[in-house]
Amino acid sequence: MIKRLTANARKPNGFWGKLMIKKMNAGHYKMTAWALKKIKFPDKGIIVDIGCGGGNCVNILSSITNANIVGVDYSALCVKNAIKKNKKAIKDGRVEILQADVVHLPFKSNTIDCAVSVESVYFWNDPDKAFREIKRTLKPGGSLNIICEMIKNEDGTGSHSQIAEFLKLNYYSISELKNIFIRCGFDNVQSYLEKDNGWLLISGTA
Ligand SMILES: C[S@@+](CC[C@H](N)C(=O)[O-])C[C@H]1O[C@@H](n2cnc3c(N)ncnc32)[C@H](O)[C@@H]1O
Repeated sequence: MIKRLTANARKPNGFWGKLMIKKMNAGHYKMTAWALKKIKFPDKGIIVDIGCGGGNCVNILSSITNANIVGVDYSALCVKNAIKKNKKAIKDGRVEILQADVVHLPFKSNTIDCAVSVESVYFWNDPDKAFREIKRTLKPGGSLNIICEMIKNEDGTGSHSQIAEFLKLNYYSISELKNIFIRCGFDNVQSYLEKDNGWLLISGTA
């Protein structure tokens, strides 16, 4: 049962996907709130949440910023649930939820002010293609902020090794993530680690 549930983190679908979305919305809340407090968001413009899942982060973003928020996920079930969670803000024209893969974002170049992504980066099969695609959509100076809690130690060990193996995740160390940012053309790459919980925020600007 736990295996079926966990496997649905990659692309939630069906009964187990629905349960996974509930679990993610609750389980990622504290880390998301911690990380969002550290990010300097634009007063207006567009903030994108990539791999938005059940729409938890979109919901917080629409309450703490005045920008328009777009949630993107390649899972149809996540899109449906994120729409449900953000019904009022969608009606008010503040939020939009779109179905798309991170490597083919439905945005014109240089149009996005800020991008965030919570617990999704491990699933991106071609990380360089994904980071370059995000950079294409960001305005110059716009930031990409990756938030995650499964981080490998620099010596290759890590407490999430087994789950990473089981889910075939890209299990990165902080320096590996930094290197992806840098080789994909991001500047000002900085990381913040919340040591008690092992939460990471890593950011770079386009
Ligand atoms: C562990 S969940 C996290 C969901 C949400 N961000 C949260 O914190 O609750 C990972 C999410 O990333 C999405 N995802 C994975 N690979 C993706 C891709 N290539 N393009 C778009 N979304 C992707 C999945 O569908 C899933 O909703």
